[in-house]
Amino acid sequence: MRFFIKSYGCQMNSYDSQRMSDAFIAAGGEAVSKPEEADVVVLNTCSIRDKVDEKVFSDLGRLKIIKDEKSPNDFIIIVAGCMAQLRSKDILKRAPYVDAILGPQNIGQISEVATDIAKNKALDAIVSISSDAREKFLQPASASNRSVSEFLTIQEGCDNFCAYCIVPYTRGREFSRSVADIVAEAKNLVAAGAKEITLLGQNVNSYRGEGLNGGKSNLANLLYELANVAGLKRLRYLTSNPKDVNERIAEAHRDIEILAPFLHLPAQSGSDGILKKMNRKYSNSEYLEKIEMLREHRPDIAFSSDFIVGFPGETDEDFQQTLKLAEKVRYAQAYSFKYSPRPGTPAARMDDQISESVKSERLRILQDLLNNQQTEFNENFVGRSLKVLLVKSGKHKNQLTGRSEYSQAVSVCANNISIGDIAEVKITENASHSLIGVIEP
Ligand code: SAH
Ligand code: SF4
Ligand code: F3S
Repeated sequence: MRFFIKSYGCQMNSYDSQRMSDAFIAAGGEAVSKPEEADVVVLNTCSIRDKVDEKVFSDLGRLKIIKDEKSPNDFIIIVAGCMAQLRSKDILKRAPYVDAILGPQNIGQISEVATDIAKNKALDAIVSISSDAREKFLQPASASNRSVSEFLTIQEGCDNFCAYCIVPYTRGREFSRSVADIVAEAKNLVAAGAKEITLLGQNVNSYRGEGLNGGKSNLANLLYELANVAGLKRLRYLTSNPKDVNERIAEAHRDIEILAPFLHLPAQSGSDGILKKMNRKYSNSEYLEKIEMLREHRPDIAFSSDFIVGFPGETDEDFQQTLKLAEKVRYAQAYSFKYSPRPGTPAARMDDQISESVKSERLRILQDLLNNQQTEFNENFVGRSLKVLLVKSGKHKNQLTGRSEYSQAVSVCANNISIGDIAEVKITENASHSLIGVIEP
């Protein structure tokens, strides 16, 4: 079967697309680069903010045209992922030609479902949206020919129920894979060419998978275990909820050489009142204390963050607190979003929703500040060295591009280095989209 998969969401969503691709390939399938060339198209959807949903419906409209041109039974359309989980009825109503709907925990069935549809022509749509994550990891991922940098989901779901967030409703309850399972997958990825692995989960600091000797493990222990995987050159993990960051993690950053000194620690807001309404379970000062503690253990650590502006009830004063927090931390990089009400979440029902124009204005101010911090962070490396993992060829002859430990894009020209190497690069210039450097003799 020729297949085409489109991802709309976060890194976990991309990882799920990779697993679906593995399942098709294991069953003899072949990836194609355009939907028109495929026998089966999978839209792996996201629901974190509005707008993405409408994009899915417009993409479905285009797929319908292709389906009508071909014989409908020879062009299978499957909607998978977080929006599929939440809106299966809507999708089938607005796009009755969709052949199957799979939630994020049901994507393991993709290849069988596609084969069933191809065999039993013109059946009703198949809908599989249970939210039990265990099933998903029963089949080991069959990694072949992977890129230098790969994702590995260690934990599914989320039990935090932040007031704005849809994820606990799409991915269900928290579930941690066992250490043995994760280490085996990491070894497979490395054997298939990966040099850097980013561990994924919505709240990886509450990882509690079964340890190698029974009992429950934790994230720090898992990191020490993965540090022993031969051939693995760099390790990262996403996402940490600040409330669960502890000294064990800081020690792991101190002890583990391949663990990047870079942490995505989403603050969301700097106002205690808003953090409380968001149900984040940490205060402004607790967040700053954790940053301090991490810096004590690993002085060269840098931070990235996510922020939401215009959460219901956010006053100018609250917003100023967010700006002050960012000024104190000095981020290497950060994402910021306008609050987007998600149906079914507590925040969507709160009274004091903020107007679109205020949200836009606050977003602009915050993004200006964060962009300046990022530029300043990057400028600081001109004249200094960075360890760069080379990921792919660059635009010019003999040029390779890669990522620093801080995830900065870095380009370098040299004859004696290859993709997959970590090179010590002296930065000579901070260009608009990447740093440029040389390898010192
Ligand atoms: N588990 C991660 C975040 C997952 S969602 C954490 O706890 O930090 C990624 C980011 O999207 C969040 O950090 C948040 O900043 C943003 N986000 C989530 N829901 C949102 C909403 N309803 N409106 C705007 N941004 C949202
Ligand atoms: Fe959403 Fe909060 Fe869970 Fe992150 S920790 S996925 S923001 S509920
Ligand atoms: Fe989107 Fe689901 Fe990820 S809602 S952000 S794809 S967990």
